[in-house]
Amino acid sequence: MHHVLRSTQYAIRHMHIIETIADFRRVRPQFGSLGLVPTMGYLHAGHLSLVQRAKAECGAAAVSIFVNPTQFAPHEDFNRYPRDMERDLGLLREIGTDLVFTPPMSEIYPPGFSTYVEVEGVTDTLEGAARPGHFRGVATVVCKLFTITQPTRAYFGQKDAQQCVVVKKMVRDLNLPLDVIICPTVREPDGLAMSSRNAYLTPEQRRAAPVLHRALSAAQQRYESGERNGDTLRATMQTVLHAEALAETQYVSAADPLTLRELDSVGTGGVLFSMAVRIGNTRLIDNLLIEGE
Ligand code: PAF
Repeated sequence: MHHVLRSTQYAIRHMHIIETIADFRRVRPQFGSLGLVPTMGYLHAGHLSLVQRAKAECGAAAVSIFVNPTQFAPHEDFNRYPRDMERDLGLLREIGTDLVFTPPMSEIYPPGFSTYVEVEGVTDTLEGAARPGHFRGVATVVCKLFTITQPTRAYFGQKDAQQCVVVKKMVRDLNLPLDVIICPTVREPDGLAMSSRNAYLTPEQRRAAPVLHRALSAAQQRYESGERNGDTLRATMQTVLHAEALAETQYVSAADPLTLRELDSVGTGGVLFSMAVRIGNTRLIDNLLIEGE
């Protein structure tokens, strides 16, 4: 009886849920190689695929859950950003996550906090232009999470393409000792990129939302049939978006994947097609990367 009980306990692995930096630092040495997945919670299949890859490649996976106020402008959705810690912990436990870091606000931003990370250049365009200060908040919290958790590798989704460029540049510029791994966007069967913000959509808006992926696919098709003119490729996406009455385009872009500058013409460096679109009160982003030769 005793034996059965013990082997059952062994099968259900222990998941450390840690709230303080001091506790994380105490537990960290138990793990050698560690893959970190930084998140703001309300997890979906996209996040879980990052955790699974972290676990497979590093042997142990840590997930941080922290809705970071410094990456939201005052008029944005920080307060209503969806949160469900119990559900998140259940999902993470099921897939064998080793460590979950769920710091309270005061742990990350104690009174008197005044140091920020600014990644220049690649933050001027696209989301950086539409959401001033956003990437300063992202870079700051991600840098802190890296120093706190000391991962071997950190995993990010291609869905936030500019965030991936910014984090990679920060890691290179500040010589942070880890590898940044970018994983493919996970999509719903109708093409909508998984995002915690999809929860805001009404059923009618949800039906309209795959238009982003259709617009990106249209640009990809034009590219594959030989089109290289940046304006034509941007217009292709715009035309598809215009046809959806509920979609209000904020920007469409055909940019250099490294500098994120708009391209007059696509050359050997490839192209990042991206867009931000409002559907009702919800702002959705999506992108498709055509890698360089
Ligand atoms: O992609 C996100 O969820 C956030 O921007 C991140 C990387 C967790 C930083 O708060």
